[in-house]
Amino acid sequence: MNRFTIPRDIYFGENALETLESLEGKKAVLVIGGGSVKENGNLDKIQSHLAKANIETKVIEGITEEPSTQLVQDHLGTLNEYEPDWIIGIGGGSPMDAAKAMWIFYERPNLSFEDAMQPFNLPGLRTKAKFIGIPTTSGTASEISNLSVITDSETGVKHPLADFELTPDLAVIDPVMVESMPQKVIAYSGMDAVTHSIEAYVAKPRTTFTDSLAIEALETLDEHLLSSYKGNQESREKVHYAQAMAGMAFANAVLGNVHSMAHKSGPTFEVPHGCANGIYLPYVIQFNRSVVGDRFAKMAKRLELKGDTEEQLVDSLIEWVRELNREMGVPNTLKEFGVSEDLFKEHVDQMAKNAMDDPCTGTNPRETSEEEMKKLFEAAYYGKEVTF
Ligand SMILES: [Fe+2]
Repeated sequence: MNRFTIPRDIYFGENALETLESLEGKKAVLVIGGGSVKENGNLDKIQSHLAKANIETKVIEGITEEPSTQLVQDHLGTLNEYEPDWIIGIGGGSPMDAAKAMWIFYERPNLSFEDAMQPFNLPGLRTKAKFIGIPTTSGTASEISNLSVITDSETGVKHPLADFELTPDLAVIDPVMVESMPQKVIAYSGMDAVTHSIEAYVAKPRTTFTDSLAIEALETLDEHLLSSYKGNQESREKVHYAQAMAGMAFANAVLGNVHSMAHKSGPTFEVPHGCANGIYLPYVIQFNRSVVGDRFAKMAKRLELKGDTEEQLVDSLIEWVRELNREMGVPNTLKEFGVSEDLFKEHVDQMAKNAMDDPCTGTNPRETSEEEMKKLFEAAYYGKEVTF
């Protein structure tokens, strides 16, 4: 038996935000990032739509970094006092993931973080509030997914909280939200979406439902990501929907080693999530090709990359990822990103160990040993081809 779960409603396209006017409820907490959504007037727009639905709002702002258990704790009091019946995460992955985690502990104050970390083990939410995701970047698809990635403040390790209870009730994907997205964010979040498509298409729990979304998303990203990066607004809109499609795929097919490695190395090396994915992806494709070469070749064919044999097509897909990285200023190695060799050597063993515990490792198409995980990190640090 398989399961496929996405938000109950997805509103997208021009003026999708207007759907907020038909919400039922009294109070909403809006969780936002660093303030660009205020400066570009989009927060005002959202609040005025909610006002038309007679919904009062309170804003939690300043979620600029990938969220931690401490940050979630710091804002819980606001939720408990205000008692919202809607929680709205507006932003890139960080504010949306933070809002989801706040939602868990607002609903279930006695739940420990350790309990919440157990995959697919959350008690029912929605006893106090429902959840809306409104993305302002194009990549994480947190508005679609059943995930919230939280860093444990005590250990500094990132943990994906995964449960279909966390799938938002409503996703509002309005292109106006990404019109002024900075280039670096387009690049990093774009490589996150590319990684979601490719990892979901080969992950162990993939299904025919997730395949169709993953490959269509990748084709759209191939056609439009670079053009969006260069400023084309029509392409930016296409990418905004493609990342949501990739989100529907990975929320149900899960991911693989690229994400395990990004989760476990991101905080220590201070590599943003999408950038880490862009770095690791070519090496993990090389590692997985012995098991799912035919799947990678299928993707390469869909992108009309050159090659007659499976071997050549997979090589072309790897080169396609590297070229995208190059064109958008995403480094191809950790060294190139600026991680010092001393820092890398100090942490690589622990990172390999931690990555083995990440839920994404279990769904990677090829079984991975801790030693192989360490070798993958080393390949991505020094830029060595993966031949093991
Ligand atoms: Fe991701």
